[in-house]
Amino acid sequence: MSDSTPLPAFVRIYEAGARDGLQNEATQLSPAERIELIQRLVDAGIRSIEAGSFVSPKWIPQMAGTDQVLAGLNRHPEATYAVLTPNEKGMLAALDADADEVAVFAAASEGFSQKNINCSISESLKRFEPVMKLAADNQKPVRGYVSCVIGCPYDGAIEPQKVNEVVNGLFDLGCYEVSLGDTIGVGTPATFQRMLDVVIGDRVDSLAVHCHDTYGQALANIYASLQMGIAVFDSSVAGLGGCPYAKGASGNVATEDLLYMLRGLDIETGIDLQQVIDTGHFISNKLGRINQSKVGCALGVSAGASNLG
Ligand code: HMG
Ligand code: MG
Repeated sequence: MSDSTPLPAFVRIYEAGARDGLQNEATQLSPAERIELIQRLVDAGIRSIEAGSFVSPKWIPQMAGTDQVLAGLNRHPEATYAVLTPNEKGMLAALDADADEVAVFAAASEGFSQKNINCSISESLKRFEPVMKLAADNQKPVRGYVSCVIGCPYDGAIEPQKVNEVVNGLFDLGCYEVSLGDTIGVGTPATFQRMLDVVIGDRVDSLAVHCHDTYGQALANIYASLQMGIAVFDSSVAGLGGCPYAKGASGNVATEDLLYMLRGLDIETGIDLQQVIDTGHFISNKLGRINQSKVGCALGVSAGASNLG
């Protein structure tokens, strides 16, 4: 490794499969099935996990019943179960369901902001104010997302400066961490470095990277981000999902593939790769879809794995 920044010794994986993954699947799973997915991932050692969204069920029917998912979980004391909350209504539902953490989501492009949450970027930041207030009053940490940090399906290439403005807006509101989303997976290590050069500043420890793998660049972009000191990455078991408002976007980088790369780099995660692989096959069978994890397909299920869908 020739770079001056040493790679982190530990990476926190933020598992998004039960939200970012399932929100875009044609097959709608029951709360009980979503609970089983989450429990299996937590059993594998995942400690940061998105359990669903409190968004309009007319917009995202797959996430209806997130309250039942949260109510039915046998929560691990060290795991954090997060949900998306786009507005005050969503935040009130998250409080009722006692989510451990919530996430607000903005975009670096106006086109995507309108299509995804039906308002401009500045309106979205305004809408998050009551969410932040309720979160502070109830001691709930808030994560921020910025979508389209490299490119947008409606507005094209996005300038790093624009990403930086929205990231600043989310930190100013009080987010403890901001996740940088390459929603349509168009980034390359070069465009990621150019974006991160502008955005990182003195807050590398409060940033995460969220790569969709549409163009097969996710692991390369994650490696470039690791070299720049990022140590939190979002991923989805079996590479589930996409985003319903980003046409052609495929799923997140598969958690299995990310774990395999990190293990090869001697980076700790505290997660059992084989258990995640088994879970990837379980959920792919359940959804009747092809497992998008190359590592999951190469290594296959363990001999003792049971009930794979
Ligand atoms: P709107 O239509 O502008 O909102 O939608 P509204 O306030 O006018 O309300 C319209 C209806 O929605 C009303 O119901 C509200 O009660 C209801 P009606 O009177 O028609 O029956 N409503 C809600 N229901 C449940 N929970 C709520 C809620 N709010 C309003 N929280 C809104 C605005 C944001 C609600 C809508 O646009 C929406 O739900 N969008 C879904 C966005 C979404 O979930 N996108 C996918 C997640 S983001 C993503 O995947 C990107 C990410 O992974 C990062 C990356 O990859 O880049 C995070
Ligand atoms: Mg996403």
